[in-house]
Amino acid sequence: MEDSKKGAPEVLPAYSKVSVLNCIDLSSSDIQKSVSLLKQACLDSGFFYVINHGISQEFMEEVFAQSKRFFNLPISEKMKLLRNEKHRGYTPILDEYLDPINQIHGDYKEGYYIGVEVPEDDPDAQKPYFGPNVWPTEDILSGWRQAMEKYHREALGVAKAVTRLIALALDLESDYFDQPEVLGKPIAVLRLLHYEGQISDTMKGIYGAGAHSDFGLITLLATDDVTGLQICKDKDAKPQIWEYVAPLRGAFIVNLGDMLERWSNCIFRSTLHRVLGNGQERYSIAYFVKPNHDFVVECLPACQSKENPPKFPPIKCETYLLQRYKDTHADLNSYNK
Ligand code: OGA
Ligand code: NI
Repeated sequence: MEDSKKGAPEVLPAYSKVSVLNCIDLSSSDIQKSVSLLKQACLDSGFFYVINHGISQEFMEEVFAQSKRFFNLPISEKMKLLRNEKHRGYTPILDEYLDPINQIHGDYKEGYYIGVEVPEDDPDAQKPYFGPNVWPTEDILSGWRQAMEKYHREALGVAKAVTRLIALALDLESDYFDQPEVLGKPIAVLRLLHYEGQISDTMKGIYGAGAHSDFGLITLLATDDVTGLQICKDKDAKPQIWEYVAPLRGAFIVNLGDMLERWSNCIFRSTLHRVLGNGQERYSIAYFVKPNHDFVVECLPACQSKENPPKFPPIKCETYLLQRYKDTHADLNSYNK
């Protein structure tokens, strides 16, 4: 099975198609229209833009500037902040290996994970995805932590607003996701990303980020103006057809994750995506939203029937994530710390 996929010829289009995605205006009072646009996007590709989300352009730019300051540090400084077992901190180039079938080695990107800050003496700090973050010191990057913590808070607010529309699109109560049992103590992870400008070569298996779908409920992605993100709406098509997602200033590119696909019995899509480097440096900021550690994701009653039984068994959020992170990241013991 794997062998037949390996090296499957991918026809490189003479031109690069750009995907047309629906755009959801979070400030609009026409909720019905927003829900209908969003539903269409979730059925079609699971990707859409969100505009007028309430995070100011000025602040977004500040966070991008702070991200650049970090990645500009010498590698020796960055390695002092190498990610820990709880997935907090720096991930060097090649650390993440998203698509081993088509990639010759890991992704040509470096990153920085920031989770929910939970102090060491809080009982919740024992949970696999909670605990204190790894922070650069104030003398190295002043104001950095404050900016990231503020972004974390504001992005969670945007994500919750989007989940209210998703709930309506699934004919659920608007607070189905945005309630304490589901998103009261969410596993929410901010990830700064930097693509160094390596040119990707799909024939050679070199990618900025290998093909993958995100693990959680939804992801909010902010990018700079450099193109690179591509989606593949039908992963089984031969050859696969990849379309670019154009950057949109001030907007979030939002995509659905695998947990929502499980919840909705594959009615809503978590689409395969990847990043191709075009030789230009590129920065992006992903915000991954997953439910509480203990929450059990299982097929919604409205998404199953006798003829269409659940495609996946129920699974606890933390169990699912532990496996997905383990499958996609280098063993920490491989770094000479
Ligand atoms: C991711 C991702 C895309 C990008 O981090 O999961 O798909 O444009 N990032 O950086
Ligand atoms: Ni992704």
